Amino acid sequence: MSMAASDARGAASEPAFVQQPEKYWDRLFAPGGHAAMITTVDGEGRVNAASYATCVRIVHKPVQIAFTTSQAGDTGRNVAETGQFVVNLPSFERDILEKVRIVGLPFARGVNELEKAGLTALPSTLVKAPRIAECHRHFECEVVWTKEWLNRMMVVGNVVAASVRADCVDHKGYIVWERIKPVAFCGAPYVNMFAAGYETMAVGLPYDGPEAQAADQSVRRMFEDM
Ligand SMILES: Cc1cc2nc3c(=O)[nH]c(=O)nc-3n(C[C@H](O)[C@H](O)[C@H](O)COP(=O)(O)O)c2cc1C
Repeated sequence: MSMAASDARGAASEPAFVQQPEKYWDRLFAPGGHAAMITTVDGEGRVNAASYATCVRIVHKPVQIAFTTSQAGDTGRNVAETGQFVVNLPSFERDILEKVRIVGLPFARGVNELEKAGLTALPSTLVKAPRIAECHRHFECEVVWTKEWLNRMMVVGNVVAASVRADCVDHKGYIVWERIKPVAFCGAPYVNMFAAGYETMAVGLPYDGPEAQAADQSVRRMFEDM
């Protein structure tokens, strides 16, 4: 469909842009990152889970995942105490997303949010925090660095192990999109809305300069052993 709008006489006109006031910037940047539930344990081994929309894979090799949390929250404190966390990715299904909302409630320190939400803890393979059985994908992580600013804390972790439901990937590890059903949280201003992220499209590269070939080779080199 053309980007151009039509005026009253049917002639094509350019779409207008409207400036947004600062109070709408947050909602304009929708959706956020992949919806995630991050599990941690505290120094005594008590399980904690919290929901996140700021979770993003930020490095391909080694695979590193970042998220931001509040400095005062249990996740941040547990990450600082143990240096570990697990990223559990839910699918675009109402039942699990309702549980994501429960896990995101401000339960007191020491409360196991998985039990509150009726989710099942599955022991991890390398880290102390459990995986969540109802999530199709899990990334066990060890902290690389954290940074505190404002009242926030950014956490970057190295993935040290990853698992996926067997019927959700092909033999080369590519995900089966319509089974995994990736989902983003629309953002706090949207309160209870999630966006499906599994409509995919392969697109051409209508540019034949040397940069196109160089980019292609660089991607091939990065993944040539895979
Ligand atoms: C869908 C969803 C996404 C959320 N995303 C974030 C986020 O990216 N960062 C954050 O600090 N809190 C986020 N929250 C809120 C936290 O989950 C919530 O504050 C939680 O109580 C923190 O738990 P903790 O104290 O156990 O770490 C989100 C909540 C929901 C329901």
